[in-house]
This record gives sequence, C-alpha cells and structure tokens, in this order.
Amino acid sequence: MLSYRHGFHAGNFADVFKHVVLCRLVQSLLAKEKPFFYLDSHAGAGRYDLTSVMAKKNREFSGGISRLWGSQDAPDGVREYLDVVRACNPAQELQFYPGSPLFVRHFLRPVDRMMLCELHTKDAEYLKTEFAKDRKVTVQMMDGYHGLKAFLPPTQRRGLVLIDPAFELKDERARLLESFAEAYKRWPGGIYAIWYPIQDKHTVDWFHRQLIRTGIRNIVAAELRIFDEDFPLRLNGTGMIVVNPPWQLDVQLETLGPWLWQALSSHGQGGFSLNWLVPE
Ligand SMILES: C[S@@+](CC[C@H](N)C(=O)[O-])C[C@H]1O[C@@H](n2cnc3c(N)ncnc32)[C@H](O)[C@@H]1O
Repeated sequence: MLSYRHGFHAGNFADVFKHVVLCRLVQSLLAKEKPFFYLDSHAGAGRYDLTSVMAKKNREFSGGISRLWGSQDAPDGVREYLDVVRACNPAQELQFYPGSPLFVRHFLRPVDRMMLCELHTKDAEYLKTEFAKDRKVTVQMMDGYHGLKAFLPPTQRRGLVLIDPAFELKDERARLLESFAEAYKRWPGGIYAIWYPIQDKHTVDWFHRQLIRTGIRNIVAAELRIFDEDFPLRLNGTGMIVVNPPWQLDVQLETLGPWLWQALSSHGQGGFSLNWLVPE
C-alpha cells in the first residue's frame, strides 16, 4: 500500500530544482536529430492542481514555483522551465503544476518516445487519462524498478532515465542503487538522473559512497540546500545525480544553481554545490 502522494509536494523547491535540471537534460537530447527515449520510473500523476485540498495542506508550492512564477530575469535554463509551467496555465494564473512527464512531453518531437511507470493506482489512472490519445507516450501501472529491467535498453539507443522515488521506504536507497546498477549494465550509454532528498549529511555521504562503489564512471552530483543541515527531520535540500551528463551540463548548472538558490532560499542558509563523484 503506497501512502505517498506527490500532490502534497508538487511545485515545491525540490520539484523546481529537479525539473530545471530535467529540462536541461532534454534540451541536450534535442540538439541531435536522432530520436530519443525517455523512461520515468516513478512518474507521479503528471499534472497537479495547486488549488486542491492536497496542495493547499502545506502550500509547499509557495516556497517553490510561486517564487519564480512572476520572474522577469530568469536565466535561459530557468526560462525554458518556466515556459512549460506557463503552457500548463494558459489563463496566465498559476493553478497547475506540471510533473516530470509533462515537462518532457512539452519538448518531445514526433520521433521521440516516452515510457511512464507509476505504481499508485490513482496517480497511474490520472497519467493514463492525461496521455490517453498520445501515441508517443506509454503509461504502465507497475513497479518502476521492474520497468528499468523491462524497458532498457531502448531501441532508440539514446535517451534519458529519470529515477525519482518517494523515499518513504527504509530500503529505498538500497533498492534504487541496486536497480540503477542493473539498468546501467543493460544500457551504459543512457543518461540517468536520480533525484534524492537532503536531510542529513551522513545519509547523503553514504549514498554518494555507494554510487562510487558501483564502479560506474561519469557521475556528477548537483545539490541545492535552502537550510543548513542542523535539523535532520526537515527537507533541507535536494539533489540530482546525473550519470553520463551531457557536455557542459556542469558549466550550465554552475550558473543556474546559484540563481535558483537566491530565488528559493529565504534564510540565507544552505547554498548550491556541484561535485563530480566520479570523473569520465
Ligand atoms: C516523487 S514522486 C514522482 C514525481 C514525478 N517524477 C515528478 O517529478 O513529477 C514518486 C512517485 O513514485 C510512485 N511510486 C512509489 N513507489 C513506486 C514504485 N516502486 N514504482 C513506481 N512508482 C512508485 C509514487 O506513487 C509517486 O507518485
């Protein structure tokens, strides 16, 4: 039984950071004409109504997308992200927040394909409705870790895998690491983006060490903290691991990260960091 619903968190600062990085990764794939494949192992509901009871419970979006919505001076990589959020809100008032599938779908060309896995019955139903008539998109109500085995390697030979679990289960990190290592064996040429929460330094360091121990090369970790890690029960920050990052992603994030930190942090705490865990 899954209790996590992303609707409570949609559009928060962690979503903003994750989706800005996601948009950058998709942009890099669009630079070549050859088709690409996108696999979202934990896809969520696809679209979130920020006026819903769920979203309004803790109003997490007010510390995230609400801070960027009216922004006039966003740098390029953030502007393309905001274009997708705006396309989701044609009335020009912020009501809906797009999940990862909608961000990627916005940029998909006729030749590209997208596979979405979601285990929660309700959210999988929403996804199926969202993409019912879309031939580029396949939705599977299934365990995303099984999806990594079932759908990799893709016939397109280039593309991106987003692994974005809820981190509610005790063994989630171990399962993620094992599944990622297996997926990589099947498809070493793919780009992998792995989202993780930052609560305490010990857990993050452990996670990084385990990634390094896989022996896989070309791994970068981008992290945005909006609080110092002095209160481990709180979501102090958010991280994205990118394996096989596109050329110049690190340079681009070194510009976007500090801008996002300025926009999203209100206590002067935390900061942005980018570290190569394993070079190429
Ligand atoms: C953090 S949310 C995903 C958010 C989404 N990727 C986005 O960025 O908009 C995690 C999702 O994973 C789903 N989930 C949890 N365990 C899963 C599993 N084993 N396989 C597939 N989905 C799972 C949850 O129901 C939830 O919708």
